[in-house]
Amino acid sequence: MSLVRGTELFAAARKGHYAIGAFNTNNLEWTRAILGASQELNLPVLIQTSMGAAKYMGGYELCQQLVEATIKSMNITVPVVMHLDHGNFEAAKAAIAAGYNSVMFDGHDLPFDENLEKTKEIVALAHSKGISVEAEVGSIGGTEDGVTGEGELASVDEAKQLAATGIDYLAAGIGNIHGQYPANWKGLNFDRLKEIADAVEQPLVLHGGSGIPQDQVEKAISMGVAKLNINTECQLAFAKATRQYIEAGKDKVGKGFDPRKLLLPGTNAIKDTVKEIDGWMGTRPVKMVPEEL
Ligand code: G3H
Ligand code: ZN
Repeated sequence: MSLVRGTELFAAARKGHYAIGAFNTNNLEWTRAILGASQELNLPVLIQTSMGAAKYMGGYELCQQLVEATIKSMNITVPVVMHLDHGNFEAAKAAIAAGYNSVMFDGHDLPFDENLEKTKEIVALAHSKGISVEAEVGSIGGTEDGVTGEGELASVDEAKQLAATGIDYLAAGIGNIHGQYPANWKGLNFDRLKEIADAVEQPLVLHGGSGIPQDQVEKAISMGVAKLNINTECQLAFAKATRQYIEAGKDKVGKGFDPRKLLLPGTNAIKDTVKEIDGWMGTRPVKMVPEEL
């Protein structure tokens, strides 16, 4: 088992009241850390690139091939979903062409009717190739990779309309924010989450997972969230471990400046973060892989 689409994995997760981690990658080290941690835990994982990360790394094809080749070279046997995170219309089409298994078309900043129409187009194109689709209703607060959302609560009616396009999973704004949460953050809006979960059968996606307290994440998962997106927590862990290495002067000892040594503490810190957050995802069945895969 290696690269798979997300449809069956996340549907089984919502049904079973657990979640699967969706971690952003930025380079080879990130990719190895996420895949290595998931293999050690024997858990499926979704690895995703934002549009900015894909541009930084050299494009969608390179990202797809990097993940595929890394799975092979590391002998990864757990299911892995290669996903585009917060893609615009063009990016979603490009990631589909490059062979991603799953794409998020994020039309939250468009007039709703346009978001709906473009989501339909992406669903038709992606499904014709067996690729899964995530859509977004109501924006996620904060800024990620230059994409800023005000953090509005998703409308239940709009969530239903987007779900009816045949998307495979739905990201809904429920007070969640990308990046670090302000001290006066009110917390997730569980009333709205319940209304959306009652109205929509698709697995729900919780963005901005890094700063949400564990108990709120667990409650959200028990209510229908099946995909938990994590980016900032890995970035902070990487930066902190690298800073500690340099502040301790280890880059000045022997060949400590060699990137293979310099990047190692940060890479291990990402691995530890993935493992820690995977512990929040609810009780998973012994057999994680649905029959259909
Ligand atoms: O799409 C990615 C995420 O929503 C990550 O959010 O950076 O707050 O963990 P985060
Ligand atoms: Zn997000």
